[in-house]
Amino acid sequence: MNDARLESGVGEILVSEEQLRNRVAELGREIASAYEGRDLLLVGVLKGAVFFMADLMRELPLPCEVDFMAISSYGSASDSSGVVRILKDLDINIEERHVLIVEDIIDSGLTLSYLMRNLRSRSPASLEICALFVKETAGKIRKSVRYIGFELPDRFVVGYGLDFAERYRNLPYVAALDDSLIPEGP
Ligand code: IMP
Ligand code: MG
Repeated sequence: MNDARLESGVGEILVSEEQLRNRVAELGREIASAYEGRDLLLVGVLKGAVFFMADLMRELPLPCEVDFMAISSYGSASDSSGVVRILKDLDINIEERHVLIVEDIIDSGLTLSYLMRNLRSRSPASLEICALFVKETAGKIRKSVRYIGFELPDRFVVGYGLDFAERYRNLPYVAALDDSLIPEGP
């Protein structure tokens, strides 16, 4: 049967399924040893990080909980404008908790710097970031990211949770979006 996910638009594969699996397991080991003896709260950013978070969590032999936030940045599907709004807040009170933000991809870093400021004001015991992908476009936020899966070039990518107009999240690998689908910039 044809794989209908590939109907159109998927370009070069940048990170394979096996590379994802191996790197997520490595990150799990790193995080597990860093948080040994502490209760961890993973905070996922909907929707893209759900896929990564589910796999990462199963690599953590630690007591841990999860919660989610939904954030919207205004702007077109392949461009982040920097204006950020909370669509869904956390259910759990993070005061005195060890919080690890789990993010799918950092492009400009605007979403994450907003989120860091917002969560820091709630007095967690600790606050760190784990991002599966960081693009070369990420600015000074990069040095606040404790755990990074892969560095990526400045290309729009889809798969393993990452979407273009809500599609392609279910690809098991990460691929560049075909150039013909990327809207013209301003
Ligand atoms: P930032 O605020 O510019 O760092 O953008 C981060 C958010 O934009 C991510 O959480 C994604 O939702 C989205 N994003 C940025 N780059 C990509 C991409 O290449 N593919 C899919 N989504 C992306
Ligand atoms: Mg996102």
